Amino acid sequence: DWSMENFIEMQISTIRKKVGNKRVLLGLSGGVDSSVVGVLLNHAIGDQLTSIFVDHGFLRKGEADQVMETLSGKFGLNIIKVDAQKRFMNKLNGLSDPEQKRKIIGAEFIAVFDDEATKLDGIEFLAQGTLYTDVIESGTDTAAVIKSHHNVGGLPEDMQFSLIEPLNTLFKDEVRALGTQLGMPDEIVWRQPFPGPGLAIRVLGDMTNEKLETVRESDAILREEITAAGLERDVWQYFTVNTDVKSVGVMGDQRTYDYTIAVRAITSIDGMTADFAKLPWEVLSKISNRIVNEVSHVNRIVYDVTPKPPATVEWQ
Ligand code: XMP
Repeated sequence: DWSMENFIEMQISTIRKKVGNKRVLLGLSGGVDSSVVGVLLNHAIGDQLTSIFVDHGFLRKGEADQVMETLSGKFGLNIIKVDAQKRFMNKLNGLSDPEQKRKIIGAEFIAVFDDEATKLDGIEFLAQGTLYTDVIESGTDTAAVIKSHHNVGGLPEDMQFSLIEPLNTLFKDEVRALGTQLGMPDEIVWRQPFPGPGLAIRVLGDMTNEKLETVRESDAILREEITAAGLERDVWQYFTVNTDVKSVGVMGDQRTYDYTIAVRAITSIDGMTADFAKLPWEVLSKISNRIVNEVSHVNRIVYDVTPKPPATVEWQ
């Protein structure tokens, strides 16, 4: 009968049979799905797996290091980390339209992945963290599944691989249980949803390093305080946005004119609809005080109290 231990044993033997002595490529995003696929495949085929982890510069504070420490350090995955921050920043220069930013980041992601993948010899398989829900949504058309996953890994257009999708019979909660069974830490297994384009879609208006850093630093403070208050599992997703609005403030006897950071925290089942999280005032107060005191170029914090619909979860 069905148990997670049996599932793991069966997957390992299926993967070994399918792969033989060939090589497999995996695009790691740091999210739960691709990370679980990585650890599972590492158990099954060890060094025949090569993972590519693209740091596009829009990850959360400490995230890239944490992915490397856990998956490479603790679990021993063979990971090629690509530091592509400059490449992405250059591409976004001067752009403020959100959909255009998404498209450019997606295309650049595939280009970077492609550049790395072509350096590798003899890869025959591409592993993906496709879930059962993705399969249903995209029908049985594998090309559609891949396209819908261009955020996670990406498939170079002129490369032909066979796919390995060990999670494609599982729901999200089962993937989390699988990760836990494989000994993976909660920080990965219970990671909140994080968009492929990352913090880039949380900087409104034109992209600058200064604005990006206000988001990265304020997001780190928000996460610390949500954790300190024991609210991580009650709040479905929580993040900060640089609104691109500057307003007047006062610091000591100095007038300031700096950015407004919005805090977004929602409760939801699947992200399709959402309500704003009724965070305790004292938690909000601590978050607000810490951000204005610790993050340069921020002098005002607002809390987003809009449900979805009519607002979306992200601001762009
Ligand atoms: P919205 O803003 O559409 O967000 O209400 C719903 C969920 O989707 C995530 N999201 C994205 N995820 N690429 C992604 O991988 C994207 O471009 C993107 N935009 C939104 C969002 O974080 C929320 O969980």
